[in-house]
Amino acid sequence: MRNKIVAGNWKMNKDREETEVLLAELAAKLPDTTAEVMVAPTFVNLQEAVRLLENSTIQVIAQNMHYADNGAFTGEISAPMLNSIGIDTVILGHSERRAYFGETDELLAKKVAAALEKNMRVIFCFGEELEDRKSGKHFELVESQLRNALFNLEADDWNRIVLAYEPVWAIGTGETASPEQAQEMHAFIRKVITDKYNGELAEKISILYGGSVKPGNAKEIFSKPDVDGGLIGGASLVADDFMAIVEAI
Ligand code: G3P
Repeated sequence: MRNKIVAGNWKMNKDREETEVLLAELAAKLPDTTAEVMVAPTFVNLQEAVRLLENSTIQVIAQNMHYADNGAFTGEISAPMLNSIGIDTVILGHSERRAYFGETDELLAKKVAAALEKNMRVIFCFGEELEDRKSGKHFELVESQLRNALFNLEADDWNRIVLAYEPVWAIGTGETASPEQAQEMHAFIRKVITDKYNGELAEKISILYGGSVKPGNAKEIFSKPDVDGGLIGGASLVADDFMAIVEAI
């Protein structure tokens, strides 16, 4: 049985007061669920978020991290620093980090290795651009992103990997992948991992869908057999919307 997960990626949103307000609303509105529910506030609010949610099952996770433990990397944050404030899960490879900050598969492989070395869990993001899909290269692209960043891992490492397929053309656009498109790609991803490792390992991996998940489309997307939850952007910033998505899992 795979873990069902709904994670909110807040991106660069919510100052300290806004964070406190939203977290209080989320903690109060969290429905009974067997799914894991996670929120990823900005770095400056992580420690306060951990404190505010200490009596909640909602997990606080980070949006990124550097591969080094410390050093001359102005503006960066390391795994030990995240661990020191109670953060043990990190999002890596988000398309916005790839696009705006030049993160390559090779750099992400180093970040994933560093996170696993510190016993963190990784939500690894990947997904094609619209032109890749239009040219029929989306499967090839997704496979290369997985192969280049993750296929150096040992089988046991995958116990701490969650995958998040996020077609770039669906992120923040309101243009959601259809449930069928999501299922098709998730099933492909699981087959690629089966071929590289084995079916038992592939069957255990939670594969989240991200890209304009909203209360109105979440249930149908989450109903697909290889969709194990969602990585939510805009809708995670509104308590009622995020909780409606949690209820849909
Ligand atoms: O990481 C999740 C995010 O990229 C999806 O954003 O606003 O399309 O739900 P959004």
